[in-house]
Amino acid sequence: VPTVTFYDAVGGEPTFRKLVDEFYAGVADDPVLRPMYPEEDLGPAANRLRMFLEQYWGGPHTYSEQRGHPRLRMRHVPFKIGPVERDAWLTHMRDALDTLGLAPQYEAELWAYLERAAQFMVNSPD
Ligand code: HEM
Repeated sequence: VPTVTFYDAVGGEPTFRKLVDEFYAGVADDPVLRPMYPEEDLGPAANRLRMFLEQYWGGPHTYSEQRGHPRLRMRHVPFKIGPVERDAWLTHMRDALDTLGLAPQYEAELWAYLERAAQFMVNSPD
């Protein structure tokens, strides 16, 4: 029985690429988030986030081929993430998600995940 993954249902790679590109366009101008990124070029970070999300939602496993086990909470320990950083991250993600025009049930599922994941990454009371 062929199964359609969430990744396929929302349009595959172009959808995740747009989500992450729109998100990072917001991060690029954000006074809280931009200084947290160690690299001058946000392109590689955008690529890592896109590959991770594609893998999580049933797309190609390129993220783990290149980066190994995600261990995302551990990978965020070097960055101070409190409520302010979490909310800034979620604001840009919400704006990015709104540009996709997904069917409401997909949009709700993706957003619920992103809110949970962002809360999970909080490692400081601020
Ligand atoms: C990496 C910030 C939440 C996924 C990073 C980096 C920063 C950062 C500064 C380093 C950039 C890089 O070299 O890739 C934040 C902040 C968050 C947050 C402030 C606020 C809550 C999340 C969430 C996810 C996520 C919710 C997943 C749904 C990733 C991934 C990487 C990353 C996949 C690259 C990990 C690697 O392979 O090295 N994040 N992040 N982040 N973040 Fe976040």
